[in-house]
Amino acid sequence: MSENNFDLVIIGSGPGGYVAAIRGSQLGLKTALIEKYEHLGGTCLNVGCIPSKALLHSTEMYNFAAQSAEVHGIDLTNLSISIKKLMAKKNKTVNQLRAGVEHLMKANKVKVFNGLGMLAGLGKVRVKEKHDETVLNAKNIIIATGSSTIELPFLKFDAESVVSSDQAIAFDKVPKKLVVVGAGAIGLELGSVWARLGSQVEIIEFLPLIAPAFDKDVSKMAERLFKKQGLKFHLKTKVTGIKKENGKVILLAEKIEKQVEFEADKILVAVGRRPYTDHLGLEAVGIETDEKGHIPVDAHFKTSTEGIYAIGDVIPGPMLAHKAEEEGVACVERIAGQAGNVNYNVIPNVIYTEPEIASVGMTETTAKESGIECKSGKFNLAGNGRAIATDATDGFVKVTACAKTDRILGVQVICKGASELIASAVTHMEYGGSAEDLGRTIHAHPTLSEAMKEAGLAVGGKALHSS
Ligand code: FAD
Ligand code: NAI
Repeated sequence: MSENNFDLVIIGSGPGGYVAAIRGSQLGLKTALIEKYEHLGGTCLNVGCIPSKALLHSTEMYNFAAQSAEVHGIDLTNLSISIKKLMAKKNKTVNQLRAGVEHLMKANKVKVFNGLGMLAGLGKVRVKEKHDETVLNAKNIIIATGSSTIELPFLKFDAESVVSSDQAIAFDKVPKKLVVVGAGAIGLELGSVWARLGSQVEIIEFLPLIAPAFDKDVSKMAERLFKKQGLKFHLKTKVTGIKKENGKVILLAEKIEKQVEFEADKILVAVGRRPYTDHLGLEAVGIETDEKGHIPVDAHFKTSTEGIYAIGDVIPGPMLAHKAEEEGVACVERIAGQAGNVNYNVIPNVIYTEPEIASVGMTETTAKESGIECKSGKFNLAGNGRAIATDATDGFVKVTACAKTDRILGVQVICKGASELIASAVTHMEYGGSAEDLGRTIHAHPTLSEAMKEAGLAVGGKALHSS
């Protein structure tokens, strides 16, 4: 076999692409991975999940030291924080994981090409490297080119005062006033990071709720708790433009037909991301994107062109790293003749604020809107022993189940560590578990996860530790 003949060529090395490459190699496929940037790992590792979680962790510790240490008898007089060291710690984490992905590619004998991958006709991918161009022959091609930031037409990014998350994970000093457009995952996570460091953060959202993808009860409690942490929300507010006055940027917006202005040192635009297919050469293979720019695929990730597949943020569905990974695995298994599959009903969704918010499956509202007769059980963390012992009483777990069969339809969690708690709900749902199954599952005492068990019991009106 010629050096440039592959069973599988993957374009894009994010969590979708690099995980697909590992699975390809495990299944005996000669696999190549193409990445246009110097480092592997995509958005998630380089400018997304990992750097943002590193910053959230560091600032949460700083916030604890500044706000709560004293009540534990910890004296931290003259507390300070160095943004330079904070960023160095984040970069160290990212570098460690970059090296980890590189190692995994070597260990799995995946051939990595550093360059822009372009579709060059059926079964051919051109890689434009720094000084060279190589054409790879591919029996199968997976497009895993991910997503990119969305720019508002009247709020152009300038990398200085109007920025995306790419810059907001790397400011070299704390902006005095940070205005965030969008109260979704990025707005709440990075808004929290900079508020903890002393920024005055104002978040503008055109919907009436923050974190609108979650259950209304969760969004409302999150708003109340984040307000206490100093975040200011302006809901039902539509951004209309920007002006500059005396060296200051002022964001213009409309709130219930009234003009409002927000002075800012930095404006972070976090209104979603768009599928990324720039320079990919989709036209060379006859693939057309949909109205939102996604590459349409069938249930087995096949595009309209034979031998070309697509996964991750570039196809429809939630833009989440674990969704991209699962699609990568399932897609390659299908290519290898196996029965890979993604269960889209049980993809967890988490916002890593303090407290964290997490969900899986349907909300009570979406279940009712789909015409399903359902019942819900809720358990407040205030009734959980571990929560009381660890200052984590803010929040609740809510389980929604089918009224007829008791099968769990969805779970919503807002509490410290919700990202870890949601995993047991995902597992129960994956195996078709009922609310009673969840309620009868033994959870260690004392743990916050007992709230999950209690919420399962609450669906049948049998929670043990609530009155
Ligand atoms: P990507 O990770 O976007 O990777 C695509 C790769 O393809 C990139 O490296 C790109 O350079 C490369 N590429 C594109 N075109 C070409 C080409 N023509 N040739 C060669 N290479 C190409 N998700 C979570 O689940 N949890 C989180 O906590 C989380 N936090 C996030 C925080 C932020 C600030 C952001 C921005 C996103 C976050 N996400 C999170 C979303 C997550 O990053 C994405 O869902 C995930 O990275 C998608 O994976 P992917 O493999 O589809 O694409
Ligand atoms: P998002 O879709 O989570 O939130 C965008 C928010 O902006 C929504 O609340 C929306 O109503 C609002 N909005 C849209 N246009 C607006 C406008 N013109 N004015 C005011 N508000 C407006 O998108 P976000 O936060 O940009 O994140 C992008 C993607 O990255 C998401 O799909 C998310 O899944 C992923 N991500 C995931 C994280 C996680 O899993 N913890 C963390 C960060 C990002």
